[in-house]
Amino acid sequence: MKPLIPVIALAASVAGAVATADEFRDEDVARWQAQFDEVAAEGRSLWTSADLGTNGVVCAQCHPNAANTHPETYPKFQKQLGKVVHLWQMINWCITNPLEGQALAADSPEMTAIQAYVYKERTGVPLAPGKH
Ligand code: HEC
Repeated sequence: MKPLIPVIALAASVAGAVATADEFRDEDVARWQAQFDEVAAEGRSLWTSADLGTNGVVCAQCHPNAANTHPETYPKFQKQLGKVVHLWQMINWCITNPLEGQALAADSPEMTAIQAYVYKERTGVPLAPGKH
């Protein structure tokens, strides 16, 4: 039983550290929300931008207001890619196929913005990974 006490003490100190790290104020939340809203707004402008492709086609033509993007169902099997993929991989499929553009890096600011916009449009929809 002897080793149990240090283990409990360690667990308590880790929990304490996490609780401290999680402290934030209302103005922090407001600032983070404003930053998210700004990134989602960038995604909204990319949605109607022909710059993502080479043929003048834009996302909004087939997905007005992010319709039929179903971000809550990812990761899931997509037959266009033949495997279980993330949302960004399907976004790149649409960039390289209907828009005939260059795929974006998964961690590019543009890909983050597009995903922020798509998820924002689906706020409140329950997660359903894998669903068709
Ligand atoms: C010419 C029409 C067209 C355009 C333009 C288009 N898409 Fe798509 N998109 C599709 C089709 C077709 C699918 C496949 C539908 C399926 O199999 O679920 C799809 C699927 C998707 C999906 C996954 C939908 C799901 O239900 O899982 C996302 C996300 C997506 N598109 C994002 C985009 C983005 C971002 C752009 C702009 C860069 C874009 N699309 C432009 C036709 C289009």
